[in-house]
Formats: sequence, C-alpha cells, structure tokens
Amino acid sequence: MKKFALLTVTLLMGTSCFAQTKNLPEPNMQHKTLSVMEAYQQRKSVREYSAQPLSEQDLSDLLWAAQGKNRADGHLTAPTAMNRQEIRLYVFSEQGVSLYDPQTHSLTQVAAGDHRDIVAGRQDFAKSAPVSLVMVADMDKFGSNNQHAQWMVSVDTGIVCENINLFCSAAGLCTVPRGTMDAKAIQSLLGLTDNQIPLINNPVGYSK
Ligand SMILES: Cc1cc2nc3c(=O)[nH]c(=O)nc-3n(C[C@H](O)[C@H](O)[C@H](O)COP(=O)(O)O)c2cc1C
Repeated sequence: MKKFALLTVTLLMGTSCFAQTKNLPEPNMQHKTLSVMEAYQQRKSVREYSAQPLSEQDLSDLLWAAQGKNRADGHLTAPTAMNRQEIRLYVFSEQGVSLYDPQTHSLTQVAAGDHRDIVAGRQDFAKSAPVSLVMVADMDKFGSNNQHAQWMVSVDTGIVCENINLFCSAAGLCTVPRGTMDAKAIQSLLGLTDNQIPLINNPVGYSK
C-alpha cells in the first residue's frame, strides 16, 4: 500500500513537471498585416531566420491564425472534414515542446528542452528558426484510418499549414512548409501512437 502511494505521488510529480499550461495573450485582431491579396502576392518559402525569439503576441496571433477558435460554437479558423478538429499543433522552441489548445488559446508544455533538431531532420537551416510548428494528424480523433480518411486528414493538415504560410506572409514573418522531419523521433518524444502522425511542419521566425 505504501509502495502504491509512493508510486502515485512520484507519477503525479512527474506529470506536473510538464503539465504546465500557459494562457496566450488574446489574438490581436488589429495586428498590422498586408491585405489578403497582398499576402498571396508576397507568400514564398524562406529558409533563413533571425535568432530573435518570436514575441508572445506574434506567437499568439500565429497559432490563432493557424487553427484558433473563431466562433462561440468552438469552430476553428481552419475547416476540418466533418469538423473533427483532428490536427494537433505542437510548438517546438529552445525552451521545450508545447501543445496548442484552440479552445482555450493556451499552450501546455509536453516536453522540456530544445528538440528543434528532430523537426529539422536533415535540413540544418530549420534548427535556426526560433519556433517550429509541427502538425500531427490524430487518426483516432478523426475516427477512421481508411484511405478516404487519410486523404481528408491530409487535406485538413494542408489547410492549417497554408493558414500559417499566409499569416506569415501577411505579418512579415518567414516560413517554409516542410515534409522533412524525423517523424519517428517526434512520435517517440511526444509519446504518440502510430495513429498520431507528424505530417508537416513550419519553422517560423523573423527576417534575417
Ligand atoms: C507538402 C510540401 C512539402 C514540402 N517539404 C519541404 C521540405 O521538406 N523542405 C523544404 O525545404 N521545402 C519543402 N517544401 C517547400 C517547397 O520546396 C516550396 O514550396 C516550393 O519549392 C515552391 O517554392 P515557394 O514556396 O517559394 O513557392 C514543401 C512544400 C510542400 C507544399
């Protein structure tokens, strides 16, 4: 019994180390950005970043644009097939890895330390971005893993990714969509199953 109590306390302490949830500042709807047409005109892949960390407000606005809650009923800026909202958005930075919760507009730390190298994979330039956003498709949350489900989930992921691309273009941030990453290492670090698949990532930073 004593052993069980000790194990429970140890486990609780272990999870509390990482289960830190931080509310992000409210997204700034007055963020100075290009118009939608200008953002399309300027969008391009950029593979060089300043080392300057992203401001909290820019990170907040970026995540909200990617797939934030934009209606009282819980729907998001990014549409998903049958509104399954099955894309998990992880933020990798020098400080650790956090999971974005669109409903509460908050970040929960899920790993400590700098793991941007496993997102970069064989492309070293990606390590220099202050944050990398990793989109993980959760097939369990989607509710099926057949071929049609995989197509729909891939489309949903692409929409989140393009929201990131266009926000960056409009807000003067630099990014590139990347299929390159060490997906197995990411799954292992984050304790993901084979049904939770890292599909694409976007390093994001200010212009060098
Ligand atoms: C699904 C997808 C995967 C991509 N993967 C990578 C990648 O792993 N590494 C990379 O440097 N660029 C990657 N890119 C960026 C493309 O190389 C880039 O979009 C393309 O060359 C066109 O250039 P542009 O984005 O400036 O128009 C990817 C783009 C897409 C849409």
